[in-house]
Amino acid sequence: MNIRMLENTVEKMMESPKGLLAMDESSPTCAKRFASVGIEDSENNRRRYRELLVTTPSLNEYISGAILFDETFNQKMSTGDLFRDFLTKINILPGIKVDTGAKDFSGHHDEKITEGLDGLRDRLADYSSKGAKFCKWRAVITIGETIPSNACILSNSNSLARYASLCQENDLVPIVEPEILINGDHDIIKSDKVSQITLESLFEQLDILNVNIAGTILKPSMVISGDKNKKRADTQTVAEMTLNRLVESCPSNLGGVAFLSGGQSDEEATEHLNIMNKKKSELPWRVTFSYARAIQQSALNYWRGKDDNAEKAQDILKNRARLCSEASMGSLTT
Ligand code: G3H
Repeated sequence: MNIRMLENTVEKMMESPKGLLAMDESSPTCAKRFASVGIEDSENNRRRYRELLVTTPSLNEYISGAILFDETFNQKMSTGDLFRDFLTKINILPGIKVDTGAKDFSGHHDEKITEGLDGLRDRLADYSSKGAKFCKWRAVITIGETIPSNACILSNSNSLARYASLCQENDLVPIVEPEILINGDHDIIKSDKVSQITLESLFEQLDILNVNIAGTILKPSMVISGDKNKKRADTQTVAEMTLNRLVESCPSNLGGVAFLSGGQSDEEATEHLNIMNKKKSELPWRVTFSYARAIQQSALNYWRGKDDNAEKAQDILKNRARLCSEASMGSLTT
């Protein structure tokens, strides 16, 4: 493990006023997103769409790194350039999602365990030799009346830590993503409690497995009411409780924090981040975004697979990236 290399990558990923663009939807997820706007699911359309994203003018003013899916990482653009080389050329670090998905957790109804550790060392060596600088692994924690179970939290935390350790062995910065789903009618207090036990378990496992914390990025969900809760907490409360939870449960030498949007509206995702960053001078780490839907969805809705819509779709994407960037500085004005 080359610690200086990891720290250098972390510094670039967390550079102000930028954040990360998650464009690593697996093929089935991409198919669902395409279906919702009437786009045929094909490798060519996935390439066309992702080419539209990465060729958006001035994207690199707002985005420091892009998380790719394996297909895109090894795919060529219409120009013949590999996506990963194009990103490097425009000063956006190429990253790669390396888990193989959240699967049903044996013996635990309605819970998930993320797979992908088998053969991971070899896959990481390959990605690293091809220019990847960082990786992502997403664990899914579901809130219900009797869940999450300790088993689900412990097993996912341990997998995240094993993944992170292997990444660092290959000089790749691990993004550890324990996503606590927004789905459900739980209140924000429950979300906070689950965030607490999840983050504490994760950092305990990272410590046990000797993961270098300064060379690690946390991609958390926000502390937020369930999407079906009747009295959802307001934006100020979400931002304050999220920040308090991070400060209490995360080590101060963590490389950085980059949130997922997790089904929040575009406005909520930027507003929450903006409020948090009003206090950025008091925080031990940078707090930015690693959004997929909250950056991409409105552009996809406009594009609908039509070349004639591409330029306007890129304007929409650029605007979302700019707003997220401003929110990451606490300087968004509405
Ligand atoms: O793993 C989740 C994605 O990287 C973030 O997606 O911002 O749409 O929740 P989201």
